[in-house]
Amino acid sequence: GPGGRVSRRSFVTGMFAAISAPVLDRAADAATRAQRPWGTLLRARPTRMELGRRQVSTWAYNDGVPGPVIRATAGGTVRARLVNGLPEPTTVHWHGIRLAFPMDGAPGLSQRPTQPGETFDYVFTVPDAGTYFYHSHVGMQNDRGLYGALIVEDPHEPLGYDVEYTVVLDDWLDGVNGTPDEELRRLNASEEHDDTIRSSALGGVAGETLYPYYLVNGRPKGDPVTFAGRPGARARFRVINASADTAFRFAIGGHRLTVTHTDGFPCTPVTVDTVMLGMGERYDLLVTLGDGAFPMMAVAEGKRAKAYAVVRTSRRAAAPRRGSRVPELNGRMLAYRDLDAHRADHLPAPARSVRVRLGMEPSGNEWTLNGRLYDDPLRLRVDQGETIRIVLENESPMWHPMHLHGHTFQVRGKTGRRGPRKDTVNILPRERLWIDVHADNPGEWMFHCHNLYHQEQGMMGLFGYG
Ligand code: C2O
Ligand code: CU
Repeated sequence: GPGGRVSRRSFVTGMFAAISAPVLDRAADAATRAQRPWGTLLRARPTRMELGRRQVSTWAYNDGVPGPVIRATAGGTVRARLVNGLPEPTTVHWHGIRLAFPMDGAPGLSQRPTQPGETFDYVFTVPDAGTYFYHSHVGMQNDRGLYGALIVEDPHEPLGYDVEYTVVLDDWLDGVNGTPDEELRRLNASEEHDDTIRSSALGGVAGETLYPYYLVNGRPKGDPVTFAGRPGARARFRVINASADTAFRFAIGGHRLTVTHTDGFPCTPVTVDTVMLGMGERYDLLVTLGDGAFPMMAVAEGKRAKAYAVVRTSRRAAAPRRGSRVPELNGRMLAYRDLDAHRADHLPAPARSVRVRLGMEPSGNEWTLNGRLYDDPLRLRVDQGETIRIVLENESPMWHPMHLHGHTFQVRGKTGRRGPRKDTVNILPRERLWIDVHADNPGEWMFHCHNLYHQEQGMMGLFGYG
């Protein structure tokens, strides 16, 4: 089959209720190997998929949402051939990778967008191990299902674990036909959505758009994916928020989460009950699996909805009830100040700093960096080899997960304390955060809010050399 939902589902009939992520990963790997020398073939095209009991139209890579998991080894090369079967131009951006500028997939900057019927070959070295993802960087295409996980393995992996799972969270919207308002209203009133969990744990919201579905690995809560393992196993969950307009608060019922990596980079491990992921952020979590069947829950912050999956280590255990409570969601939540990069990943002290104000136009329809829209963008200029501090000040009532292409930065505490290495950082309303960037990768890089609506409505600047 074409690798869509239906064939995956029929494959597991008689086994667990759904297939586990590692099996999907291995299938994707086999596909990758079979397609040398072009590594992964990414066919972007309109397709149909099953969501719950509905057949829907979407856009996807290789007819699957998420697209195939791409795996590489640090220091190795990723080869991916994009074949554009969409009715619009497109590009692929490799989110978080410190790659050579021409491969960045930034339309109009690093490449001319790939036209319908054309192909584009992405070939680049991946210097750092970690959890990344790829997505279209044209318009709202990411919101239509054009995304997938990119895992860069460490050839000398220091973290001992028995099994790993890739968990991709998304807010899915029928961006092809448009989900009719009437249907959205019906879905929001139905049990797909849950009015017991509306929350804004950190104040303000990351997004406002209501979506018909919130997905874990392409599956809605009514037809959840199962992550199967054995009791006592040390499991590594690579959690990616690929959504356009939703921050997720993530927890696994009955389990604590040891955070080992942020946006791919290792940090001093911290154990918490729940983590918040802004759009574009990733966390790697080590979990010792209990015995039974447990709800995995990702609350869509500020919305009456959640994404849901099952972690199962026993065939006999009853499935967790759909409405089950996950008290961990209200337990200790990870904060950036809990995290520190490994010493070897600390950046040199910055010689200068620049201020970037995150603002909203009075109309509420345009989002700005230092008062500017992308039409006439904010330009941050750096010299090769220098380290600069960017002081991000949120003067608006919403969250902004700010993302810098081609680099990772170090989040700094107010007292100058070191913090985690990241490429996407959430700035809450009226909050101020410092990030230090070492300029070591020449190019004309995008620096933008990863709320896709904000990005499209102006909230993007440039980080360039010379
Ligand atoms: Cu994941 Cu410019 O974005
Ligand atoms: Cu924003």
